[in-house]
Amino acid sequence: MGTQLDSTSLQLPVQFPEAEDFLPLNGTDHVEFYVSNAKQAAHFYKTAFGFQDHAYAGLETGVKDRTSYVLKQGRIILIFTAPMKADSPINDHIVKHGDGVKNISIWVDDATKSWEITTGRGAESAFEPYTLEDEDGTVTLSGIKTYGDTVHVFVERHNYSGTFMPGYRPMKRPHQPEDVGLLYIDHMVGNVGWNEMNIWGDFYKNVMGFAQLVSFDDKDISTEYTALMSKVMTNGNGRIKYPINEPAAGRKKSQIEEYIDFYNGPGCQHIAVATHDIIQTVRTLRAQGVEFLEVPKSYYDDLLDRVGDIEEDIVPLRELGILVDRDDEGYLLQLFTRPLMDRPTLFFEIIQRKGAVSFGKGNFKALFEAIELEQSNRGTL
Ligand code: FE2
Repeated sequence: MGTQLDSTSLQLPVQFPEAEDFLPLNGTDHVEFYVSNAKQAAHFYKTAFGFQDHAYAGLETGVKDRTSYVLKQGRIILIFTAPMKADSPINDHIVKHGDGVKNISIWVDDATKSWEITTGRGAESAFEPYTLEDEDGTVTLSGIKTYGDTVHVFVERHNYSGTFMPGYRPMKRPHQPEDVGLLYIDHMVGNVGWNEMNIWGDFYKNVMGFAQLVSFDDKDISTEYTALMSKVMTNGNGRIKYPINEPAAGRKKSQIEEYIDFYNGPGCQHIAVATHDIIQTVRTLRAQGVEFLEVPKSYYDDLLDRVGDIEEDIVPLRELGILVDRDDEGYLLQLFTRPLMDRPTLFFEIIQRKGAVSFGKGNFKALFEAIELEQSNRGTL
């Protein structure tokens, strides 16, 4: 895996012919969080996760109602935006949801056409197409609503040569922690309410032209106490994958229900970010204070019986708590952070794919038992 690969060639070689790529979607452009303090949030994602300064908008750039820090690592661009006024809709979002993902933005060739096609197929508009301009060119944006208060922004940037987009200025402060090897967003998961998984699966199928990659029912994803259901939707070139979770009935409260309670509705549950070297990445993240879910050490006792031969030494996997799963195409290594917010809502998944195209079904039980332990500590099980 020593060769340099861009995010396109790292993505799955699999095409999904049943998906209709009428937009088309080139990949994730960026993810924008609404947070109460963008300066401090940016510092956390820099020092803990190895993101670096990329761009900035705020009072110094003539923006009066918000402050935005844009961070970058590999192909991943995150924006942390905070409101500057009490009557801001950003404030309303934070009051309702806490810090969380507002915009899941998708890189397209034509943001106007993407908006026209998707709204014509039943999407609700979040905002109509508009064009930003500066001396480096133009960027056209449009938006449609998805689950909860989350928005898909279509970003057309082929006429832009600047750092990020008009309205932002490049930012590179002296303090730039080393990146930790995060490369691109592998998938982003949405949590929706009871009986809503199929509604949003159909939304991605009918409005966006996605195909269903896989579906898990509550028999696949359950422990003695809790359960959930999940459907993975993908676009035709496989660069955008959105699993959709809904709660399922169990003896105790589903982690998805806990999320919905604290987020006050549907929203983004996790962002899976890919690395070429999960052992090195997780070792660094742990050293920088990132907290991960802890599965029982007994998970490793029969790991090789379950997943067969793997290239990695099992000792660092056990030491770092990295999980392994295999499917017909290969295997994957993954690990989930604890929630990144005060509320038990959003978390990151760190994933390294070695051929596998699946999502770690073999780890669901161990993971959910680890989550149940945390739910129990929170008094929300
Ligand atoms: Fe995931």
